[in-house]
Amino acid sequence: MCGIVGYIGEKQAPAILLNGLKKLEYRGYDSAGIAVFDGNKINVKKYKGRIQVLEDKLQVSPLQGVAGVGHTRWATHGAPSDENSHPHTNADSSICVVHNGIIENYISIKNELINKGYKFNSQTDTEVIVHLIDDCYKGDIFDAVLEATKRLKGAYALVVLNTFEPDKLIAVRKDSPLVIGLGQNENFIASDIPALLEYTKKVYLLDNDTYAVVTKDSVMLTDSEKNPITKEPFEVTWSIDDANKGGYEHFMLKEIYEQPTAVINTLRGRLNTDGINLDDFKLTKEQYDKIKKIYIVACGTAYYAGCVGKALIEKYTRKPVETAIASEFRYADPIVDENTLFIAVSQSGETADTLASMRLAKNKKARVLAITNVVGSSVAREADDIIYTLAGPEIAVASTKAYSTQVICMYLLTLKFADLAGLGATKEIKNLTEACKNIHIDAEKALDKADNIKKLAGLFKDASNAFFIGRGIDFCLAQEGSLKMKEISYIHVEAYQAGELKHGPIALLEEGTIIVALCTQRGELFEKTLSNIKEAKARGAKVIAIAQQDDKKQVEECCDYAIYINNCENSASVIPSVILLQMLAYYVACQRGCDVDKPRNLAKSVTVE
Ligand code: M6R
Repeated sequence: MCGIVGYIGEKQAPAILLNGLKKLEYRGYDSAGIAVFDGNKINVKKYKGRIQVLEDKLQVSPLQGVAGVGHTRWATHGAPSDENSHPHTNADSSICVVHNGIIENYISIKNELINKGYKFNSQTDTEVIVHLIDDCYKGDIFDAVLEATKRLKGAYALVVLNTFEPDKLIAVRKDSPLVIGLGQNENFIASDIPALLEYTKKVYLLDNDTYAVVTKDSVMLTDSEKNPITKEPFEVTWSIDDANKGGYEHFMLKEIYEQPTAVINTLRGRLNTDGINLDDFKLTKEQYDKIKKIYIVACGTAYYAGCVGKALIEKYTRKPVETAIASEFRYADPIVDENTLFIAVSQSGETADTLASMRLAKNKKARVLAITNVVGSSVAREADDIIYTLAGPEIAVASTKAYSTQVICMYLLTLKFADLAGLGATKEIKNLTEACKNIHIDAEKALDKADNIKKLAGLFKDASNAFFIGRGIDFCLAQEGSLKMKEISYIHVEAYQAGELKHGPIALLEEGTIIVALCTQRGELFEKTLSNIKEAKARGAKVIAIAQQDDKKQVEECCDYAIYINNCENSASVIPSVILLQMLAYYVACQRGCDVDKPRNLAKSVTVE
């Protein structure tokens, strides 16, 4: 949802800004630009298209300077175009702004500024910010930014470069993420840590409503009343390699292959012989017993991980769980009170709807637990308790290892709740605990199926629609698998509860319609799903099954193709199965020539409603 960067120091800024933008391209990629102070004036280059377009133009006519700002855009107000690209400048280019977020009251401010004689060159909400700062400027740039931002409603992370005090970048964070990287004779600003990893691991994770005046040798943090804020720098543990492709063709493929390690990291120190240890989620038996309802709220893939959580928690602990899509939850007047445990799941920790839902639940006195991948993210800072998914940075827009680690957190929570409910010694819980210890091995085995999956991917080459079906946890998997396929291969895939096909959608089946049937749940559900597969086959569908190894014979009797996971506890089939689905989506997208890491119309972090 737009990436912003800033640099001030002794080195040439353009290369550093460009490099940072490339690391943030996952946040938006419909246009990009940089602005650099050359000692006299601010020069701007900004173009519609990928960062590569900007880079090519800079090769032909380079910019020079040791202070600058950059932006990669995901359009909200105004279509992608050179004019709507950031940075935006005031009339004489003495002030320049890059912005991530949305200014909700920009129309009224724009009208006011137009009446004062300001001219606008773009359709963006951002352009009002730069003219407003110009209007507020009375000789001190920081004061002008402070005054201007007091007028803004909405979400914004800003970096301001100016010619009056060119030795300073002013940064502001309100409801959109921003970090400051600390260097020697240089400092950096970025929307996210990967942009800084090459230069520093010491960062300030800015809290909401924080202002920063950044020079090459200092960073001063204040609130909106100029009261100083003292903050300890945070040491980032991610390595540069974590934010690079490391020899893989795409980030998505790299992240798919990182899952066994991500699973181990997320379980390490938490799944112990003496029980579950969740450092930042200390729930007593008394508190657990008071919980009448658990809500799991999230968006997209994180929501589907939440659906797995509901299935697990209800099955093993009998505690009632509701799942909700955050954009619905926040306006549904949900029934939440002090006896509710609200669980927000978010890879980025910045998703606007998830954050708003979480705030709503807090206001209604619920205890709020965040499951997130990003230390210091808004969700992490505002929750009462946190469980970090230790997936490492996820760069590809299509979420993979974040999902797996979110599901791992669901296993951990289930085991913790079972323990608090006094069920720790039951056979079911012991089996689930053992199964969790082997999940990384099952994940490795699933990765070995890449060649089979590449072949099956060919079946989708000319497909325009398909169905993913399953029952119970397999339906959760079907939902996630179909989202993955949709977002990167642009095939219209519907996820359906296998038993529900015959209540309508079966009318869509024709000779050759592809169905991916998840049948990893052995026992009663397995037989039922096989019946549904037969119904679909009788109407011409081509069925690809995903099942446990030992069910090979039965599966092959009724399906056209099959891929198998290791035999495992039913509840533990999620991670190996989702890896197969992720690889299927990946290879289908590659074979259809789609841009896997940057699917059309999407951005990784959705910080607007
Ligand atoms: O950062 P979050 O986990 O809150 O993001 C939620 C969704 O936007 C995200 O999972 C999205 O659905 C992914 N593109 C799915 O691959």
